[in-house]
Amino acid sequence: MTATSPDLIRPVLTVTSLTKKFGDFIAVDDVSFDLMPGASLGIVGESGSGKTTTARILAGLERPTSGTVTLAGEVVEGHSRGDRLRRARQLQMIFQDPYGSFDPRLTIAQAIAEPMKLHAPGSTREQRARVNELLDQVGLSSRAGESLPRDLSGGQRQRAAIARALGIAPRVLVLDEAVAALDVSIQAQILTLLDRLRRDTGIAYVFVSHDLAVVRHITDTAIVMRHGRVVERGETEQILRSPQHPYTRLLLHSIPSPDWDLEQVARDRRALDRH
Ligand SMILES: Nc1ncnc2c1ncn2[C@@H]1O[C@H](COP(=O)(O)OP(=O)(O)OP(=O)(O)O)[C@@H](O)[C@H]1O
Ligand SMILES: [Mg+2]
Repeated sequence: MTATSPDLIRPVLTVTSLTKKFGDFIAVDDVSFDLMPGASLGIVGESGSGKTTTARILAGLERPTSGTVTLAGEVVEGHSRGDRLRRARQLQMIFQDPYGSFDPRLTIAQAIAEPMKLHAPGSTREQRARVNELLDQVGLSSRAGESLPRDLSGGQRQRAAIARALGIAPRVLVLDEAVAALDVSIQAQILTLLDRLRRDTGIAYVFVSHDLAVVRHITDTAIVMRHGRVVERGETEQILRSPQHPYTRLLLHSIPSPDWDLEQVARDRRALDRH
Protein backbone atom coordinates (compact mmCIF):
# COMPACT_ATOMS: atom_id res chain seq x y z
CA MET A 1 0.00 0.00 0.00
CA THR A 2 1.36 3.41 -0.87
CA ALA A 3 0.97 6.29 1.52
CA THR A 4 -0.89 9.26 0.07
CA SER A 5 0.21 12.70 1.13
CA PRO A 6 -2.45 14.29 3.35
CA ASP A 7 -2.09 17.36 1.13
CA LEU A 8 -3.55 15.41 -1.78
CA ILE A 9 -6.57 14.04 0.03
CA ARG A 10 -7.53 17.27 1.78
CA PRO A 11 -9.27 20.06 -0.11
CA VAL A 12 -6.89 22.86 -1.04
CA LEU A 13 -9.78 25.30 -0.74
CA THR A 14 -12.87 25.13 1.42
CA VAL A 15 -15.58 27.76 1.37
CA THR A 16 -18.08 27.59 4.19
CA SER A 17 -21.38 29.50 4.38
CA LEU A 18 -20.03 32.53 2.58
CA THR A 19 -22.36 35.52 2.62
CA LYS A 20 -21.82 39.02 1.27
CA LYS A 21 -24.24 41.87 1.77
CA PHE A 22 -24.04 45.25 0.08
CA GLY A 23 -26.28 47.27 2.36
CA ASP A 24 -29.56 45.31 2.46
CA PHE A 25 -28.81 43.50 -0.75
CA ILE A 26 -27.51 39.93 -0.40
CA ALA A 27 -25.10 39.32 -3.31
CA VAL A 28 -23.75 36.00 -1.99
CA ASP A 29 -25.99 33.89 0.20
CA ASP A 30 -24.65 30.93 2.18
CA VAL A 31 -22.30 29.56 -0.48
CA SER A 32 -20.19 26.51 0.39
CA PHE A 33 -17.91 24.29 -1.69
CA ASP A 34 -14.67 22.31 -1.61
CA LEU A 35 -11.90 22.20 -4.16
CA MET A 36 -9.46 19.28 -4.20
CA PRO A 37 -5.84 19.73 -5.30
CA GLY A 38 -5.62 19.60 -9.10
CA ALA A 39 -9.42 19.74 -9.50
CA SER A 40 -11.44 22.23 -11.50
CA LEU A 41 -14.71 23.67 -10.22
CA GLY A 42 -17.02 25.77 -12.36
CA ILE A 43 -19.20 28.56 -11.01
CA VAL A 44 -22.00 29.29 -13.44
CA GLY A 45 -25.07 31.46 -13.28
CA GLU A 46 -26.57 34.39 -15.09
CA SER A 47 -25.48 37.98 -14.77
CA GLY A 48 -25.72 39.32 -11.23
CA SER A 49 -25.92 35.88 -9.56
CA GLY A 50 -22.90 36.59 -7.34
CA LYS A 51 -20.11 34.78 -9.22
CA THR A 52 -17.61 37.63 -9.31
CA THR A 53 -18.36 38.64 -5.73
CA THR A 54 -17.59 35.07 -4.64
CA ALA A 55 -14.36 35.06 -6.68
CA ARG A 56 -13.30 38.42 -5.26
CA ILE A 57 -13.84 37.18 -1.71
CA LEU A 58 -11.62 34.16 -2.48
CA ALA A 59 -8.87 36.47 -3.70
CA GLY A 60 -9.22 38.74 -0.66
CA LEU A 61 -10.43 41.68 -2.75
CA GLU A 62 -13.74 41.74 -0.92
CA ARG A 63 -14.48 40.88 2.71
CA PRO A 64 -17.29 38.43 3.37
CA THR A 65 -20.11 39.52 5.66
CA SER A 66 -19.92 36.05 7.19
CA GLY A 67 -18.52 32.64 6.43
CA THR A 68 -14.98 31.37 6.03
CA VAL A 69 -12.41 30.62 3.35
CA THR A 70 -9.87 27.92 4.21
CA LEU A 71 -6.82 27.75 2.00
CA ALA A 72 -4.33 24.89 2.30
CA GLY A 73 -5.70 24.07 5.75
CA GLU A 74 -5.63 27.64 7.12
CA VAL A 75 -8.57 29.96 7.57
CA VAL A 76 -7.72 33.17 5.73
CA GLU A 77 -9.26 36.27 7.19
CA GLY A 78 -6.75 39.04 7.90
CA HIS A 79 -6.12 41.87 5.49
CA SER A 80 -2.67 43.01 6.61
CA ARG A 81 0.12 43.04 4.03
CA GLY A 82 1.46 39.78 5.45
CA ASP A 83 -1.99 38.15 5.26
CA ARG A 84 -2.43 39.28 1.66
CA LEU A 85 0.98 37.97 0.66
CA ARG A 86 0.32 34.61 2.31
CA ARG A 87 -2.99 34.35 0.49
CA ALA A 88 -1.49 35.41 -2.85
CA ARG A 89 1.20 32.76 -2.46
CA GLN A 90 -1.53 30.09 -2.54
CA LEU A 91 -4.22 31.66 -4.70
CA GLN A 92 -4.03 33.88 -7.74
CA MET A 93 -6.82 35.44 -9.76
CA ILE A 94 -7.14 35.98 -13.50
CA PHE A 95 -9.66 38.55 -14.74
CA GLN A 96 -11.61 38.87 -17.95
CA ASP A 97 -9.37 41.66 -19.18
CA PRO A 98 -5.97 41.59 -17.51
CA TYR A 99 -4.97 44.87 -19.17
CA GLY A 100 -5.69 46.92 -16.07
CA SER A 101 -3.49 44.71 -13.90
CA PHE A 102 -0.37 45.31 -16.02
CA ASP A 103 1.80 48.35 -15.41
CA PRO A 104 1.85 49.96 -18.88
CA ARG A 105 5.53 50.92 -18.46
CA LEU A 106 6.83 47.42 -17.72
CA THR A 107 7.61 44.84 -20.37
CA ILE A 108 5.76 41.56 -20.09
CA ALA A 109 8.94 39.85 -18.84
CA GLN A 110 9.36 42.51 -16.15
CA ALA A 111 5.70 42.17 -15.16
CA ILE A 112 6.08 38.41 -14.79
CA ALA A 113 9.25 38.85 -12.71
CA GLU A 114 7.66 41.42 -10.37
CA PRO A 115 5.57 39.12 -8.09
CA MET A 116 8.28 36.45 -8.25
CA LYS A 117 10.71 38.88 -6.62
CA LEU A 118 8.25 39.30 -3.78
CA HIS A 119 7.39 35.65 -3.28
CA ALA A 120 10.42 33.68 -4.46
CA PRO A 121 13.54 35.82 -4.33
CA GLY A 122 16.50 34.57 -6.32
CA SER A 123 19.41 35.92 -8.34
CA THR A 124 18.66 38.04 -11.40
CA ARG A 125 19.95 35.26 -13.61
CA GLU A 126 17.70 32.66 -11.96
CA GLN A 127 14.75 34.97 -12.31
CA ARG A 128 15.42 35.62 -15.97
CA ALA A 129 15.65 31.90 -16.61
CA ARG A 130 12.39 31.32 -14.76
CA VAL A 131 10.62 34.08 -16.72
CA ASN A 132 11.75 32.50 -19.99
CA GLU A 133 10.53 29.14 -18.79
CA LEU A 134 7.14 30.64 -17.90
CA LEU A 135 6.83 32.44 -21.24
CA ASP A 136 7.55 29.15 -22.95
CA GLN A 137 5.05 27.30 -20.75
CA VAL A 138 2.21 29.60 -21.82
CA GLY A 139 3.28 29.71 -25.46
CA LEU A 140 4.70 33.24 -25.64
CA SER A 141 7.89 34.05 -27.54
CA SER A 142 10.78 35.90 -25.90
CA ARG A 143 9.91 38.72 -28.28
CA ALA A 144 6.48 38.94 -26.65
CA GLY A 145 8.35 39.07 -23.34
CA GLU A 146 10.13 42.21 -24.48
CA SER A 147 6.86 43.89 -25.49
CA LEU A 148 4.75 46.31 -23.53
CA PRO A 149 1.23 45.17 -22.55
CA ARG A 150 -0.41 47.47 -25.11
CA ASP A 151 1.51 45.78 -27.93
CA LEU A 152 0.02 42.35 -27.24
CA SER A 153 -3.28 40.91 -28.42
CA GLY A 154 -5.98 40.01 -25.89
CA GLY A 155 -5.08 36.33 -26.08
CA GLN A 156 -1.37 37.04 -25.62
CA ARG A 157 -2.12 39.29 -22.64
CA GLN A 158 -4.19 36.55 -21.07
CA ARG A 159 -1.27 34.13 -21.55
CA ALA A 160 1.01 36.70 -19.91
CA ALA A 161 -1.38 37.04 -16.96
CA ILE A 162 -1.41 33.26 -16.56
CA ALA A 163 2.43 33.17 -16.68
CA ARG A 164 2.64 35.91 -14.07
CA ALA A 165 0.27 34.00 -11.77
CA LEU A 166 2.12 30.71 -12.28
CA GLY A 167 5.42 32.37 -11.37
CA ILE A 168 4.32 32.31 -7.75
CA ALA A 169 3.43 28.59 -8.02
CA PRO A 170 0.03 29.02 -6.37
CA ARG A 171 -2.12 25.98 -5.60
CA VAL A 172 -5.34 27.61 -6.80
CA LEU A 173 -6.12 29.80 -9.79
CA VAL A 174 -9.42 31.67 -9.76
CA LEU A 175 -10.41 32.65 -13.29
CA ASP A 176 -13.29 35.09 -13.66
CA GLU A 177 -14.67 35.04 -17.23
CA ALA A 178 -11.04 34.66 -18.28
CA VAL A 179 -11.81 33.73 -21.87
CA ALA A 180 -15.11 35.62 -22.28
CA ALA A 181 -13.58 38.54 -24.19
CA LEU A 182 -11.55 36.39 -26.60
CA ASP A 183 -12.75 35.21 -29.98
CA VAL A 184 -13.61 31.52 -30.10
CA SER A 185 -10.44 30.19 -31.72
CA ILE A 186 -8.27 32.03 -29.18
CA GLN A 187 -10.65 30.87 -26.45
CA ALA A 188 -10.01 27.27 -27.46
CA GLN A 189 -6.24 27.83 -27.35
CA ILE A 190 -6.34 29.31 -23.86
CA LEU A 191 -8.63 26.52 -22.61
CA THR A 192 -6.24 23.91 -24.04
CA LEU A 193 -3.34 25.71 -22.34
CA LEU A 194 -5.20 25.73 -19.01
CA ASP A 195 -5.94 22.00 -19.34
CA ARG A 196 -2.31 21.23 -19.96
CA LEU A 197 -1.08 23.43 -17.10
CA ARG A 198 -3.43 21.69 -14.72
CA ARG A 199 -2.12 18.28 -15.75
CA ASP A 200 1.51 19.41 -15.61
CA THR A 201 1.47 21.37 -12.36
CA GLY A 202 -1.44 19.95 -10.33
CA ILE A 203 -2.86 23.43 -9.87
CA ALA A 204 -6.59 23.66 -9.07
CA TYR A 205 -9.07 26.00 -10.78
CA VAL A 206 -12.15 27.88 -9.76
CA PHE A 207 -13.53 28.77 -13.15
CA VAL A 208 -16.22 31.44 -13.19
CA SER A 209 -18.20 31.65 -16.40
CA HIS A 210 -21.66 32.23 -17.76
CA ASP A 211 -20.73 30.07 -20.76
CA LEU A 212 -21.83 26.48 -20.20
CA ALA A 213 -19.90 25.15 -23.21
CA VAL A 214 -16.68 26.56 -21.77
CA VAL A 215 -17.47 25.21 -18.31
CA ARG A 216 -18.16 21.78 -19.78
CA HIS A 217 -14.72 21.77 -21.33
CA ILE A 218 -12.65 23.01 -18.43
CA THR A 219 -14.28 21.75 -15.20
CA ASP A 220 -15.01 18.42 -13.48
CA THR A 221 -17.59 19.72 -11.02
CA ALA A 222 -19.71 22.83 -10.94
CA ILE A 223 -22.06 24.87 -8.84
CA VAL A 224 -24.93 26.82 -10.34
CA MET A 225 -25.70 30.14 -8.66
CA ARG A 226 -28.89 32.14 -8.74
CA HIS A 227 -29.60 35.27 -6.71
CA GLY A 228 -26.47 34.60 -4.66
CA ARG A 229 -27.39 31.04 -3.73
CA VAL A 230 -26.15 27.66 -4.95
CA VAL A 231 -29.17 26.05 -6.61
CA GLU A 232 -27.43 22.99 -8.05
CA ARG A 233 -24.10 21.23 -7.68
CA GLY A 234 -22.40 18.09 -8.90
CA GLU A 235 -20.32 16.71 -11.73
CA THR A 236 -20.38 19.11 -14.66
CA GLU A 237 -21.30 16.43 -17.21
CA GLN A 238 -24.12 15.20 -15.01
CA ILE A 239 -25.51 18.69 -14.45
CA LEU A 240 -25.42 19.46 -18.15
CA ARG A 241 -26.87 16.10 -19.14
CA SER A 242 -29.75 16.14 -16.69
CA PRO A 243 -30.14 19.46 -14.93
CA GLN A 244 -32.35 19.15 -11.86
CA HIS A 245 -33.11 22.76 -11.04
CA PRO A 246 -35.46 24.73 -13.33
CA TYR A 247 -32.91 27.54 -13.42
CA THR A 248 -30.17 25.23 -14.71
CA ARG A 249 -32.59 23.96 -17.38
CA LEU A 250 -33.29 27.53 -18.39
CA LEU A 251 -29.56 28.30 -18.61
CA LEU A 252 -28.96 25.21 -20.67
CA HIS A 253 -31.85 25.80 -23.06
CA SER A 254 -30.87 29.45 -23.47
CA ILE A 255 -27.68 28.58 -25.38
CA PRO A 256 -28.22 29.49 -29.02
CA SER A 257 -27.86 26.42 -31.25
CA PRO A 258 -29.17 25.25 -34.63
CA ASP A 259 -32.15 23.58 -32.95
CA TRP A 260 -32.68 26.36 -30.44
CA ASP A 261 -36.20 26.12 -29.06
CA LEU A 262 -37.43 29.52 -27.93
CA GLU A 263 -40.75 28.01 -26.84
CA GLN A 264 -38.80 25.69 -24.52
CA VAL A 265 -36.93 28.66 -23.08
CA ALA A 266 -40.23 30.42 -22.42
CA ARG A 267 -41.62 27.28 -20.72
CA ASP A 268 -38.47 27.02 -18.58
CA ARG A 269 -38.85 30.66 -17.57
CA ARG A 270 -42.48 30.07 -16.51
CA ALA A 271 -41.47 26.94 -14.57
CA LEU A 272 -38.80 28.96 -12.81
CA ASP A 273 -41.24 31.72 -11.93
CA ARG A 274 -43.50 29.09 -10.29
CA HIS A 275 -40.54 27.59 -8.43
N1 LIG B 1 -19.55 46.86 -4.63
C1 LIG B 1 -20.85 46.59 -4.81
N2 LIG B 1 -21.79 47.38 -4.27
C2 LIG B 1 -23.11 47.10 -4.43
N3 LIG B 1 -23.59 46.04 -5.12
C3 LIG B 1 -22.69 45.23 -5.68
C4 LIG B 1 -21.27 45.45 -5.58
N4 LIG B 1 -20.64 44.46 -6.24
C5 LIG B 1 -21.60 43.67 -6.75
N5 LIG B 1 -22.83 44.11 -6.42
C6 LIG B 1 -24.10 43.50 -6.79
O1 LIG B 1 -24.07 42.15 -6.42
C7 LIG B 1 -24.72 41.33 -7.40
C8 LIG B 1 -23.80 40.25 -7.85
O2 LIG B 1 -22.76 40.83 -8.61
P1 LIG B 1 -21.62 39.95 -9.26
O3 LIG B 1 -20.69 40.88 -9.93
O4 LIG B 1 -21.06 39.05 -8.22
O5 LIG B 1 -22.44 39.10 -10.33
P2 LIG B 1 -21.91 38.10 -11.47
O6 LIG B 1 -22.58 36.80 -11.23
O7 LIG B 1 -20.44 38.11 -11.49
O8 LIG B 1 -22.50 38.77 -12.78
P3 LIG B 1 -21.87 38.89 -14.27
O9 LIG B 1 -22.16 37.55 -14.94
O10 LIG B 1 -22.63 39.98 -14.91
O11 LIG B 1 -20.41 39.17 -14.16
C9 LIG B 1 -25.16 42.27 -8.51
O12 LIG B 1 -26.52 42.59 -8.34
C10 LIG B 1 -24.30 43.50 -8.30
O13 LIG B 1 -24.95 44.66 -8.74
MG1 LIG C 1 -19.01 38.66 -12.96
